[in-house]
Amino acid sequence: MIIAPSLLASDYTRFGKEAERACKSGADWLHLDIMDGHFVPNISFGPAIVAAVRPRAKNLFFDVHLMCSRPEILLEPFANAGADQITIHVELGDQVEPLIWKIKKLGKKVGLAVNPPTAITAVQPHLEQIDMVLVMTVNPGFGGQSFIHECLPKIQQVEAWRRERKLPYRIEVDGGINNQTAAECARAGADTFVAGTSLFGRRNLKAAVAKMRKIVNASDPALADLKV
Ligand code: DX5
Ligand code: ZN
Repeated sequence: MIIAPSLLASDYTRFGKEAERACKSGADWLHLDIMDGHFVPNISFGPAIVAAVRPRAKNLFFDVHLMCSRPEILLEPFANAGADQITIHVELGDQVEPLIWKIKKLGKKVGLAVNPPTAITAVQPHLEQIDMVLVMTVNPGFGGQSFIHECLPKIQQVEAWRRERKLPYRIEVDGGINNQTAAECARAGADTFVAGTSLFGRRNLKAAVAKMRKIVNASDPALADLKV
């Protein structure tokens, strides 16, 4: 189980300190939301910020989520900035396949995200090529939104495909994740939990990460099987 605080919910006046706080929190990944004001109706931050915080969070895996219409112009800058994985959106259609190969060529892991209104079958042709499916549980663009429960069957479906086809990809959830919704997602098959507001919003990030980890581990169907 991976816990990934999202820098989008941190204090923007102190990105460096916030990255250090995440680094010391016991989290596994740092999630970096990149918004271009076109694919989503908001703008966040770019490769220069990612490069600036990278040395402050050396032991964290940098999970870069591109909510961008033209990721092809951003892959190299984010790879150079220190991304370990780059996630693009399946809604980009014909561009998805070449983008996956470009990310691989840069030596980075590949994630493929799917928005709430998009059918989960859209990711199916790409499952053998990717390291992670990101099931969006809010419409992307803003932190602090409410979890959309209708997304849960999509998690179950990608988990079923993973089992049937014996594939190694992770299943990440992002948007409205708190201790309660994280548990629901874990029961559905998610193993990677992005949380902005419910983690960075807490004064004691370390305690919040530990609590979420405990809760998702307790909801892990694989571990539940072992207990029987
Ligand atoms: C939503 C972003 C999320 C965001 C989640 O557009 O992709 O990663 O940071 O924020 P919370 O956890 O506050 O919903
Ligand atoms: Zn995200």
